[in-house]
Amino acid sequence: MTAIWRVDRKIFQQNVRQVRNGQPIMAVVKNNAYNYGLAFAIEQFWEAGIRCFSTTSLKEAVEIRSLAPTATIFLMNPIRDFDVLREHDIHMTLPSLAFYYEHKQALADVKVHLEYENLLHRSGFKTLAELQEVLADHEANDAPKMLITGLWTHFGYADEFDVPDYEIERTAWLEIVEKLLDQGYTFEMIHAQNSASFIREGHIFPHHTHARVGIALYGLRPYSSLSRDQISQALTVQANVLQVRTVQAGQHCGYSFAYTAEQDNTRLAVVDLGYGDGVLRTRAQHDVLINGKRYPIRALMMSHMFVEVDDHVKAQDVVTLYNEDLRIDDYTFKGVGANSEQLSALNLDSLTKEYTN
Ligand SMILES: Cc1ncc(COP(=O)(O)O)c(C=O)c1O
Repeated sequence: MTAIWRVDRKIFQQNVRQVRNGQPIMAVVKNNAYNYGLAFAIEQFWEAGIRCFSTTSLKEAVEIRSLAPTATIFLMNPIRDFDVLREHDIHMTLPSLAFYYEHKQALADVKVHLEYENLLHRSGFKTLAELQEVLADHEANDAPKMLITGLWTHFGYADEFDVPDYEIERTAWLEIVEKLLDQGYTFEMIHAQNSASFIREGHIFPHHTHARVGIALYGLRPYSSLSRDQISQALTVQANVLQVRTVQAGQHCGYSFAYTAEQDNTRLAVVDLGYGDGVLRTRAQHDVLINGKRYPIRALMMSHMFVEVDDHVKAQDVVTLYNEDLRIDDYTFKGVGANSEQLSALNLDSLTKEYTN
């Protein structure tokens, strides 16, 4: 018996189709497709009609090319292996004026998307003037040169409803797009919206060719006011009760007094799942499900946890950490950690990975 990480293909596929809703999506598949597995995710997204993928790693971008030979692939981080980009027809972000001037010649024939920095401040051109400068310089350049195929930004506040920042970044971005199009520039691809922006807007922005969606495709709600039926979690994480121990009031259990029993005859289930498998310490402040009933986690160790149980629990019972009831997004909204943080913490080298259906 080992703890299991299991995805229901049918639910995953239904969710992708529901989120996509017939609209053009660039699926974000970075970090091994949010830990769902690149090959699995590309196969599922392709089946649902998605033809465009983005990641942050060149290695993954090249792997996507072999999994989906005709896909459009966008690399969201700047790299300097331009030959690899040309060889595999991978589009890449152009992250700054400095990067442009430094690599202007070397970028010849590389497809780039101009990135606008906006409020996240992680990457991108800082102003409309900077974008205009590179476009003008590029136009005036008669030497072999990069191919400007796209324009994009990334929002930092689309899942925030109580502050004006999303409205500010959204307005700034839409003005940039309008102004460049008014000036006569054209772009094969324009994309900005992550899951939260795409879902809260209910559509793709005008002039945009794709929404660049991650977490919702993986079955997690980007914000809490979204109803649970709109996005379905296909992932289950389950472990096993190895044995049930009885301890007395005042006895310390786990390393360094991790838990002290409050009552005599406290029953502690020893479960084969721990932080080494990717259970966040913050998640361990909440319950697990055993035989349909919730029980509190009392101590978290590398490969084990103690769960306080009653007489109904016995060795070999299944312990559920995440499923359609114990949703990762609900724990996000309780402050356990970001959706993607909980997903990517799960250690697929120690958990047994299964795709069912
Ligand atoms: C640049 C970029 N675009 C899009 C996304 C997708 O965001 P989400 O998973 O919230 O849909 C991410 C994810 O962090 C990202 O870094």
